[in-house]
Amino acid sequence: MSTPLIEADNVGVRFGGLVAVAGVSLSIARGEICCIVGPNGAGKSTLFNVLTGTVKPTTGRILIDGKNFSGRPVHAFARRGVARKFQAPSIFSSLNVGDNLRVAQRQGSDEIHLGEILGLLGFSGMADAPAGTLSHGQKQWLEIGMALVARPKVLLLDEPTAGMGPEETMHTVRLIQEIASRAAVAVIEHDMEFVRELGVRTLVLHQGRVIAEGGFQEVADDDHVRDVYLGRG
Ligand SMILES: Nc1ncnc2c1ncn2[C@@H]1O[C@H](COP(=O)(O)OP(=O)(O)O)[C@@H](O)[C@H]1O
Ligand SMILES: [Mg+2]
Repeated sequence: MSTPLIEADNVGVRFGGLVAVAGVSLSIARGEICCIVGPNGAGKSTLFNVLTGTVKPTTGRILIDGKNFSGRPVHAFARRGVARKFQAPSIFSSLNVGDNLRVAQRQGSDEIHLGEILGLLGFSGMADAPAGTLSHGQKQWLEIGMALVARPKVLLLDEPTAGMGPEETMHTVRLIQEIASRAAVAVIEHDMEFVRELGVRTLVLHQGRVIAEGGFQEVADDDHVRDVYLGRG
């Protein structure tokens, strides 16, 4: 097997007396999509914060391309190709779609592959549309596009379908499948229909620990998972 693009090795995160992540190991390979699910407060976003370098793990290591990045600054993670989309969209409503993508371009990077990203997002011909007039779903996709401008090797998406209807959610599944040909993708999601449709390796976090890992059905059938999460309603 090839070296994973990104790897959390027995990562723990403590905030004062609170243990947010308690010894999580996770690795994502090139071309792979992986889903992370779990109830509120399980430590999912904190795990992403560690994978992007914004939170330093209390214990354990983060490896990118097999190199130890623990303790390195956020920009080192970004430069190495780790990008993320936060839970809340943070596009610039007063700018048009094309300019939102242009501002996401870091100084010194290649000429933006604007047409390619617009096509991928389903936004062909929409570069001049004001971002503020986009639908909720389109705003989320634009933000994913902004993360893609830097040609990341690893893309982390924190609840990309939040607030979306079923059609927008399914469009997001297809978008992520297309992105997987250019970056490893990890997705935090609440929407089980989304996770089922994506049908990829799924990790269930609970109280900072991985309580199950496997294909969607395997995880969905797990008694412990049903107790803490899926069975709740
Ligand atoms: N910066 C922080 N400082 C203190 N506590 C935090 C911080 N970030 C997250 N937490 C706590 O860590 C736990 C896990 O949070 P989080 O990773 O956001 O969970 P999830 O994304 O699974 O809902 C929660 O109890 C949360 O309140
Ligand atoms: Mg979260």
